[in-house]
Amino acid sequence: MEKATRGIALCLCVLLCLSGCSGSFSEDASRRDRQIKIGVCAYDQFDTFISTIVEAFKNAAKQKELDTGISINVEVVGAGGKQNVQNDQVADFIDREFDILCVNIVDRTDTTMIIDKAKSADVPVIFFNRELVREDLERWDKLYYVGAETIRSGIMQGEIVARLCSGEDGMALYDRNGDGKLQYVMLEGEAGHQDALIRTEYSVSAIIEEGIQVEKLGNEIANWSRAQAQTKMKLWLEKLGDRIELVLANNDDMALGALDALEEYGADPLPIVVGVDGTPEAKQAVEEGTMGGTVVNDAEGQAKAMLELACHLGLGTELPEDIVLADDTYIRLPHTIVMKENK
Ligand code: GAL
Ligand code: CA
Repeated sequence: MEKATRGIALCLCVLLCLSGCSGSFSEDASRRDRQIKIGVCAYDQFDTFISTIVEAFKNAAKQKELDTGISINVEVVGAGGKQNVQNDQVADFIDREFDILCVNIVDRTDTTMIIDKAKSADVPVIFFNRELVREDLERWDKLYYVGAETIRSGIMQGEIVARLCSGEDGMALYDRNGDGKLQYVMLEGEAGHQDALIRTEYSVSAIIEEGIQVEKLGNEIANWSRAQAQTKMKLWLEKLGDRIELVLANNDDMALGALDALEEYGADPLPIVVGVDGTPEAKQAVEEGTMGGTVVNDAEGQAKAMLELACHLGLGTELPEDIVLADDTYIRLPHTIVMKENK
């Protein structure tokens, strides 16, 4: 008897659910077929590389709209480097029923609020450029990361230096005091940023692996900023003058800041200056020979991958074959070297 009642109750429940849900489900599905709303949160809208990714993302979305007829609504906000501001921006997108969030998190160790909020509203989050630790990304199966193969960017900086020094009189050209070593200074990005940590370590180890001896004269954090790098470089030049033979910068803006200071100082010849990102200004400096080289951080590729993933998650479209989603979580784009020879 008890069993029978339970059976009826269960049947009723299933029926109710089927009739109740089916209307809203198909409505929902057709709505999703036609449009998707993507909220993009930048840690700092004035960061050169991030603004390039954001622009590339908007362009990719426009192109996808043209190709598919799906309406893709992209709204971008910047947090001015403040996590509490970004938390509010994320909450606002969720309250306004955005389908997917792309978050360039300010503080990659302060993820709880964003993950909890997105999870409870069932809004997938694609983190980009500022990488969360794996344990955080594993907190929910709708969290993703799109970025670069960072280790390679550091190694390629080392390869640029090695290539420059591999010519007949290569090393002699840059080893100005003739001690057989390259005296270098390191300009680092934000403390704790995965790209800063990894590039700082791997650029130097790659140079050493190429058989070139180095000596560190100084390292300073300049937070990816051209102005801060210029200030740090100016102080080094006052102290060390022509002893600097190599400037390793974790990004191009800081490399350009170092060049600003070198120019002001009147350095001639210039030390080797190497950056990462492949910004138009850095590529021009490479072309003009003031920068030894840069490593392209593929803004377009990362933006496109992020957009395809967002559409895949929000609309169920297939991911293009060239976009690999590793461990169901990570998409990493490769880097390339830019030097004068391969204009
Ligand atoms: C790095 C990039 C830097 C800066 C930083 C911001 O990948 O090389 O220029 O944009 O990301 O998180
Ligand atoms: Ca030397």
